[in-house]
Amino acid sequence: MAKLAHAQWSSRMTFVLAAAGSAVGLGNIWRFSYMVGENGGAAFVLVYLACVALVGLPILVAEWLIGRRGQKNPIDTMADQARQNGKPKAWLGIGISGVLAAFLILSFYSVIGGWSLNYTLSSIIGTFSGGDSDSIGELFNGMLASPGTLLLWHTAFMALVVVIVARGVTRGLESAVRSMMPALVILMLILAGYGMTTGHFGEAVAFMFRPEWGALSGSVVLAAMGQAFFTLSLGMGIMMAYGSYLGKDVNLISTARTVIILDTVIALLAGLAIFPIVFANGLSPGEGPGLIFVTLPLAFGNMAGGTILGLIFFLLLTFAALTSAISLLEPTVEMLEERTPLNRVTATLIGGVAVWLLGVAALLSFNVWSEVSLLGLNIFYFLDTVTAKLLLPLTGLGSIVFAAWCLDKESVRQELGFDIYDFSAWNILVKYVAPLGVITVFVTELM
Ligand code: PHE
Ligand code: NA
Repeated sequence: MAKLAHAQWSSRMTFVLAAAGSAVGLGNIWRFSYMVGENGGAAFVLVYLACVALVGLPILVAEWLIGRRGQKNPIDTMADQARQNGKPKAWLGIGISGVLAAFLILSFYSVIGGWSLNYTLSSIIGTFSGGDSDSIGELFNGMLASPGTLLLWHTAFMALVVVIVARGVTRGLESAVRSMMPALVILMLILAGYGMTTGHFGEAVAFMFRPEWGALSGSVVLAAMGQAFFTLSLGMGIMMAYGSYLGKDVNLISTARTVIILDTVIALLAGLAIFPIVFANGLSPGEGPGLIFVTLPLAFGNMAGGTILGLIFFLLLTFAALTSAISLLEPTVEMLEERTPLNRVTATLIGGVAVWLLGVAALLSFNVWSEVSLLGLNIFYFLDTVTAKLLLPLTGLGSIVFAAWCLDKESVRQELGFDIYDFSAWNILVKYVAPLGVITVFVTELM
């Protein structure tokens, strides 16, 4: 995509699809549900929703706004924009930490993408048919215990990503994304409908929406904020890069609202699909990263038409994971391509192999390296935590502070199409509410 510099999205719709393709992924279904489960349910969900609206939306708009002005990759965009506005060049650090975060995230994202690929094939051969929680649990634990199996699927997933990115065919995926999103929503509705037949739907709704505020802590709030960044692909310069292809006539605020609503609806539906199954089968919501892989196959194994629905579901999940993974590899490739003599194919191969290697370390942490710990976390959790809870919020904070404090106010007002009154409200949000929100969460967590 980098090489299309100055090309523009053919329409607002195309742009929404590309941004949604990056946003909607494993984060909505796999990560959202396991985070909700691990962080006690409703209190997490409500804080997450607040973070999406008060921090996520302004940062998404800020990243697009900066990207559209810069018309380059995130690092050069930040350098240019800083210079034009008489600010220190050090602002390009935002671009650099974004590239780093994307690299780290992709390594473990690909491992989970591999699980999804594996489950797609298992669905085809009817592995889940008639399964109970023990047999489905054993299947999952068997996969985790086998470095060879994990390696095979991680490699297969990463190979797909590399091939797509190397060929630069990302634009061809837009039409696929267009049909995938509605299909995903419909399938989640069917699954939530299945949840209603389990007799534990009410319990799941209460778990997700009736908060016990006593469960709230600094680390729950930080996890919720991290999830908001992760799910919206923020704090990595990815949305900034996308913004550089955006036409001047597109309204950033309403576009951001569209993408965010879609992303949030899919995540909430995922929760409503998964938790009834958890409660109906006496499973623990705090299962961890395996949550959807030990719950959804139970539903597919025991519902009418489950084999085919399961196949479609894991296929869609894999596809959603691929479109996100492509956007995660792109910054690394773009940087190698523009800052070294490597051509696109070589840059993609080198970047892909580096990510793959780190992913191998992540997958080994589920078995032979389970005892290896960094700051008390195994390698997988370490990568997930450091990126979502630290790098993304800090990089996102940088982008919004820059957009709110360093850009010419009047031009921003015109660009966002605000009148004076709405603009004052917007300014309060981007100058104070969002940045102070992020900072407060950090300080609370430190104490
Ligand atoms: N937003 C994606 C998801 O929810 C993950 C992602 C994060 C993609 C960061 C790109 C950048 O799955
Ligand atoms: Na998402």
